[in-house]
Amino acid sequence: MMNPSVKNVSEEKITYKKIFLNQYQIRFLITCSLMIQQLPTILAIESSCDETSASVIRTGKVLNNVIASQAVHHKHGGVVPELASRAHQQNIWHVVNDTMQSAGIKNNDLNAIAFTRGPGLMGSLLVGVSFAKGMALALDLPLIEVNHMEAHVLAHFIDEPRPQFPFLCLTVSGGHTQIVLVKDFLDMQVIGETQDDAVGEAFDKAAKMMGLPYPGGPLIDKLAKEGNPNVFKFSQTIMPDLQFSFSGIKTAFLYFLRDQKKLDEKFVEKNLNDICASLQRHLVQMLLQKLKLASQQTGIKEIAIAGGVAANSGLRNAMAQTAQELNWKIFIPEFQYCTDNAAMIAMAAHYKYLAGKFCGLDVAPVPNMGIGDARS
Ligand code: KG4
Ligand code: ZN
Repeated sequence: MMNPSVKNVSEEKITYKKIFLNQYQIRFLITCSLMIQQLPTILAIESSCDETSASVIRTGKVLNNVIASQAVHHKHGGVVPELASRAHQQNIWHVVNDTMQSAGIKNNDLNAIAFTRGPGLMGSLLVGVSFAKGMALALDLPLIEVNHMEAHVLAHFIDEPRPQFPFLCLTVSGGHTQIVLVKDFLDMQVIGETQDDAVGEAFDKAAKMMGLPYPGGPLIDKLAKEGNPNVFKFSQTIMPDLQFSFSGIKTAFLYFLRDQKKLDEKFVEKNLNDICASLQRHLVQMLLQKLKLASQQTGIKEIAIAGGVAANSGLRNAMAQTAQELNWKIFIPEFQYCTDNAAMIAMAAHYKYLAGKFCGLDVAPVPNMGIGDARS
């Protein structure tokens, strides 16, 4: 039989050794858990216009991006705000539910709920903001407000390659046309923007004048591929510095169609592809002209595009060509991250979470929210 005291001593040594090692293991586990807390799981909701979308981001990686588009607006030739908010009400629960299920995320895995606070349509924003508040209240989670336009810019951080700061971002959508100087994830400055309509609106309105359904931008893009961009010329609107204006081209296009139809009633049908190609080239040139000026003024050659119109193939090709000519490093998001989506809201929310920027349950939508307007 073994001497019990000897056995105890050796066991104590082993135990002591184990405890010693375990302290490091515990420290390691604490560090890991702190890192996981710093890299949170967030549910993000986007409802600013006519897409109801939700996305889950975990440890900085977007897990999914569920979007319900609202076909109800097509026959009206544009987004009808009242119909948009009703459709959001019908869609939002299904979209959020699908997102959570497809990401394999349970309510208690979430660290925060994020939502688009603005800019956008009041009735549409209200649905997303209220739903996010309800979830945050029920699950006792912090809320993160996201600026929709800042999120369009931060869509560039969803996938590789990612731009380096500072970079310029041409943000072009149905409601905005801006050149943004991006200094950091949460530090952006608008250095140029439209004084009237957005370029997306010019695409959509021109399409409507030609009898094409809403949204006209993607259709003009498609038809332009079969057309000659040099057939029709439109007059240039001269704007100072980095300002844009698209109301002039809208009116010029209206008169152009009216005059041509006086000569030939079937003018649009006969020349549709060439008209689309010529108009698209004109609009893209207007954008590129100011973007080149912005790059020249700031000395920045790291250039990104974002927003729905960033899906335009004419703009994407022109960017690639200019990059070669002027030695730009360009960043063009995947198609799914150009038009409205919650993945970009999730990405913005991730950086806001890391910066400890949360908002209260008394937060309300801001339909005309500008870049840099969010206080929390
Ligand atoms: O970013 P977005 O989805 O919604 C807003 O925040 O406005 O942008 C929608 C706009 C619409 O005007 C739509 O016609 C335009 O983006 N758009 C395009 C293309 N795809 C979407 N415009 C031109 N070419 C496209 N391929
Ligand atoms: Zn948008």
